[in-house]
Amino acid sequence: MNHRRRPLSGKPPTVVANWKMQMTPREALRLARSLRTSVGRLSSAVRLIVCPSFPAIPGVVGVLEGSAIAVGAQDVFWADRGAFTGQVSMLELRELGCRTVIVGHSERRSIGRDDNDVVARKVAAVIRHRATPILCVGESLPERRDGQQDRIVGSQVQRALRACPPPMLRQRLCIAYEPLWAIGTGNAIEPQQAIDMAKVIRQALVDLYGMAVVRRSVDILYGGSVNEKNVVDYVDREMISGVLVGGASLRQREFLALIRAVASPRPGKAAL
Ligand code: PGA
Repeated sequence: MNHRRRPLSGKPPTVVANWKMQMTPREALRLARSLRTSVGRLSSAVRLIVCPSFPAIPGVVGVLEGSAIAVGAQDVFWADRGAFTGQVSMLELRELGCRTVIVGHSERRSIGRDDNDVVARKVAAVIRHRATPILCVGESLPERRDGQQDRIVGSQVQRALRACPPPMLRQRLCIAYEPLWAIGTGNAIEPQQAIDMAKVIRQALVDLYGMAVVRRSVDILYGGSVNEKNVVDYVDREMISGVLVGGASLRQREFLALIRAVASPRPGKAAL
């Protein structure tokens, strides 16, 4: 792998933990408590956001209150209230203290059948509430084999954001590039491939919003089998400003090692 030093921007990198449905609320509370004590001063070097499942959110918000660790959600519905059995609105999430929401995760797109139109409505709801969506995009393995990744990802970005014209983009927007074939497989992609896709995403955003807005308001993350050993290879602050982590965020020791690696990258092995 061909490494070069990353240029340092003043902004701390972002680490988002997607806890999926891997923990009961009690287990999530336990992990949140130990993170609060163990992250300590590292929290100023990393922007840390944990996303528990819905039932665990109020407890985790309580445990992390006053700390530098923010709490996000893994999904949201687009309407604020109504007869929508089983759904959770942005109005509810905001009241609980969530200012960040993952939208369009590949598991929602496959299990929940969230297509680009549904994702667009959800992103718009999050932005309407002045919260930050983490919009997940990524191609499947067959699409990658066919060389379709730029087209697929570019169009996912464009379609998810078409209900959000530039004036709506007053707060930050986060896009997570998560190739489906890297999620939960242990097969993280080559860092250069992630950076290439970050460029594709950035271009799609520039086409939508213009360079000034993109520079000011957009973060691009990488997600898919990120762990404490490979994380520094992805966090190139020029192009990729953080990571979305599933499996490696579930065990305190492993997750802390990952946070530590992001907070103090090894000299000479910081990025491509
Ligand atoms: P992983 O999951 O880190 O376990 O691959 C990432 C995600 O699904 O967001």
